[in-house]
Amino acid sequence: MNTVPKCWAVIPAAGVGERVGSSIPKQYLQIEGKTILEHAINPFIRNSRIEGITVALNPQDSHFSTLGIKSSSRKIHSVTGGVTRAHSVLSALDSFEAQLDKGDFVLVHDAARPFLTMNDLDRLIDVCLRHEVGGVIGARVTDTIKQVDNNHIVNTLDRENIWRAFTPQMFKFGALQFAVQKALKENIAITDEASALEYSGYKPRMVEGDSRNIKVTIAEDLSLAEIFLQKE
Ligand code: C5P
Repeated sequence: MNTVPKCWAVIPAAGVGERVGSSIPKQYLQIEGKTILEHAINPFIRNSRIEGITVALNPQDSHFSTLGIKSSSRKIHSVTGGVTRAHSVLSALDSFEAQLDKGDFVLVHDAARPFLTMNDLDRLIDVCLRHEVGGVIGARVTDTIKQVDNNHIVNTLDRENIWRAFTPQMFKFGALQFAVQKALKENIAITDEASALEYSGYKPRMVEGDSRNIKVTIAEDLSLAEIFLQKE
């Protein structure tokens, strides 16, 4: 086993992003001259602690090979993704099998999050390298949170302890692969890696990050995205 664990990145990019309503998958829409996927990958190319980046692609993907980013960094590899985000992540993790130690760390980052800052990435790595299993970047909620049933409010939650979970989510390779496999085998719906780890009994660390690290999901997010990038 390595004395110093290494860090690797997985970018699940096999979704079709129907909610944005565009004819091409949302990660290939352009903001400020670059695709959302390129913005999402860039911090991992620039961070010297990331050894390699594996992008999980849709079997029908015809866009990735046309991007300049693919040839710009020898760190980037691709695999074929699966039917859900978790399957896509697992496919990338399985491709690491021969290369990684169980104690190495994998950072999973959504292809549709173009605003990860270098600072947040560094802080997540610093904190998680010292943690028993790893953690996620997130932000406290600022709105009041309601539980709604059939369009009627039935409860107001105490927002003191409620956070939004973003990506990257950074976990030890062995624990992450085991937890995602277990959740999929037991048919547990997981929308992020932390839920899989939680289901396996771990308590991932929450690391406060920039609240602009949004996932582009609907058409309005694209306008917001333009504004954020122009400000930079
Ligand atoms: O659909 P959603 O916005 O939750 O997708 C989050 C991320 O997971 C996106 O980067 C998307 O491309 C990816 N994904 C995937 N494989 C799927 C579905 C989604 O890699 N089958």
